[in-house]
Amino acid sequence: MNKDLEAEKRLAALEAVKFLKPGMIVGLGTGSTARYAIEAIGEMVKEGLSIRCIPTSNATKELAQGLGIAIIDINSIDAIDITIDGADEFTEDLLLIKGGGGALLKEKIVASLTKKEIIIADSSKKVAVLGKFKLPIEVIPFAAGHILNQLKLLKGPATIRKVSGKPFFTDEGNYILDADFDSIKFPALLSAELNNMIGIVAHGLFINLASTVIMGINGATETFNKV
Ligand code: 5RP
Repeated sequence: MNKDLEAEKRLAALEAVKFLKPGMIVGLGTGSTARYAIEAIGEMVKEGLSIRCIPTSNATKELAQGLGIAIIDINSIDAIDITIDGADEFTEDLLLIKGGGGALLKEKIVASLTKKEIIIADSSKKVAVLGKFKLPIEVIPFAAGHILNQLKLLKGPATIRKVSGKPFFTDEGNYILDADFDSIKFPALLSAELNNMIGIVAHGLFINLASTVIMGINGATETFNKV
């Protein structure tokens, strides 16, 4: 069956924005799915919803400002009420791979400060085991070669992400390495190993960060909650 993934993304986004309430501090994700939520929030703001938002990338900041959404500095607040963000892969028990759009560092910081992290996704993102999607790893360019060697030893051979033949730079001026672990059977273990590698700024394994995943499927939505 040919699925309309764009419609699924939109449905998930529209379901997620129902959680927003006046006065909330809201994290805004990055990517094509998060975009649907940001556009819907823009409409809600035009209709009078008063919220303050924290973007997870320069692109999201620009989009949100263009829609009249109030942006605040993350260092001016203690916590974020709700964040709505996308994912590259998720499991039913809310493990995620993120960073396909290269915004994983700010996405992870924002998620770590968020009380309710809502992930929105189309049905192609749901997997039994993470790892088919290459794991994005943000590294300081100075350390890239050494991290590539260490990833090979960890059985996750990686390449430096390129755009039009040139290295892709994150908003913070770092590289993204895309690591092919194929099937990540022990995500928490891998996450801990990557956290210990000097030169890695952030990696795309999000563990214990999502509260809910809302997935669009067959003209409806399905919700997976933290147990
Ligand atoms: C960006 C991300 C995105 O949430 C992820 O890549 C999903 O993007 P899309 O909604 O375009 O499929 O982690 O860094």
